[in-house]
Amino acid sequence: MTQPTQRPEWKALEDSNLGVDLRSAFANDPERADTYTIKTDGLILDYSKNLINKELMQSLINLAHASDIESWREAMFAGEEINNTEARSVLHTALRRPSDDFVVVNNENVMPFVHEVLDKVKSFAENVRSGDWKGHTGKSIKHVVNIGIGGSDLGPVMVCEALKPFSNRDISTHFVSNVDGTHVAETLREIDPETTLFLVASKTFTTQETLRNANTAKDWLIERLGSSDAVAKHFAALSTNKEAVKAFGINPDNMFPFRDWVGGRYSLWSSIGMPIAISIGAENFQKLLDGAHAMDMHFRKAPLEENMPVIMGMIGMLYRNFHDYSSYAVLPYDQYMHRFPAFLQQMDMESNGKSVDRDGNEVDYDTGPILFGEPGTNGQHSFYQLIHQSPDVIPCDFIFPVKSQNPEADGDHHKKLAANVLAQARALAFGQTLEEANGKTCDVFSGNRPSNMLVAPEINPFHLGQLIAL
Ligand code: F6P
Repeated sequence: MTQPTQRPEWKALEDSNLGVDLRSAFANDPERADTYTIKTDGLILDYSKNLINKELMQSLINLAHASDIESWREAMFAGEEINNTEARSVLHTALRRPSDDFVVVNNENVMPFVHEVLDKVKSFAENVRSGDWKGHTGKSIKHVVNIGIGGSDLGPVMVCEALKPFSNRDISTHFVSNVDGTHVAETLREIDPETTLFLVASKTFTTQETLRNANTAKDWLIERLGSSDAVAKHFAALSTNKEAVKAFGINPDNMFPFRDWVGGRYSLWSSIGMPIAISIGAENFQKLLDGAHAMDMHFRKAPLEENMPVIMGMIGMLYRNFHDYSSYAVLPYDQYMHRFPAFLQQMDMESNGKSVDRDGNEVDYDTGPILFGEPGTNGQHSFYQLIHQSPDVIPCDFIFPVKSQNPEADGDHHKKLAANVLAQARALAFGQTLEEANGKTCDVFSGNRPSNMLVAPEINPFHLGQLIAL
């Protein structure tokens, strides 16, 4: 495989003038914001405050073409074994496709299986929500405890938090991940065994932390309810490993499977999404899938120069490799999205944290940034100082919903939130001269620091689905 650094398109970028001055770029081109804005299904990406111009964007798109991004994309959607080290397809996108689609893996159209499991997940979730699912002593479920770690925790907990306004408030959701006994002990203190459902979420069902916590929960339940028969009504498994689930003592009827072509970091769309489906209901879970599918379709169909994932990916690559920016901040101006940066850390850093290419050759380029973030405006009173004024440049993604989910609490909360996110992006891009800072040297910002602005009409299941897929 040709190393990207050997391509003429890479060398063209190396020879390019990377210097872009955002103040003058905006002053000289009143259309700049429009030129570098894309909209798809209500989601807006304004990428005009990046260190780009027409030539640089063209060079990035040339490199994307030369790297065969279109054929790799099609190979992924078609279920080819692009994960060559594990000889697997990479098919989380199939989990959000309509049932009449056709995706063949090893001579099997996987769509009937995908929808059979999805229907089972939805109907189990609705049974729990309606109170029809009864525990060992005949009581309905009031607490759901997801026991899992990594992708079997971060996606579900992030979505449950982000979509809390859409949740059934009569059922509390809890997440236990850490093998530190404190995590499970504190959770068990908050729940009642008679009304609790444990979801043991593990793709492999061999992960040490998850099995330790699940065994602790099982022993606790049996001790409190006085019979091992109680496990059948209080435990379900979300996994690919039927044998291990049986060995643990969970009734296979309560097991919700998925296939090994779903990577752990992308598994929230599979039966690993069960806590989400219980929390927000089957209809909203479907909307989450629909939002992700809409982004998949955009990624698949839009020309590269109008393609949100491609543009964000190529600009990220530019910063990491050509500007040597080693960090990246994700800053949702939405309190409900407070776990989004943590979810993205695994998604991005576990995916790209490699130093060899597909053929096992050492790479001579950087593969990814250190990703971090916090919701705005909290981050502003914490680490933004460094983002604005340190010698290091840290590109940022701002995320902002136009509509608040709590307008009644509003007064002018949401206006203030909007003013803050817009002002931060502006200050990063344009800085503040000594004159503008009224002579106060501590308020001088150099500016010319890049950011993206992602604006959604609101954070609802559909738009969250789009954002995660993006
Ligand atoms: O840390 C490695 C890892 O395999 C992650 O990729 C995965 O999300 C996590 O462990 C949990 O794995 P499992 O779902 O199999 O318990």
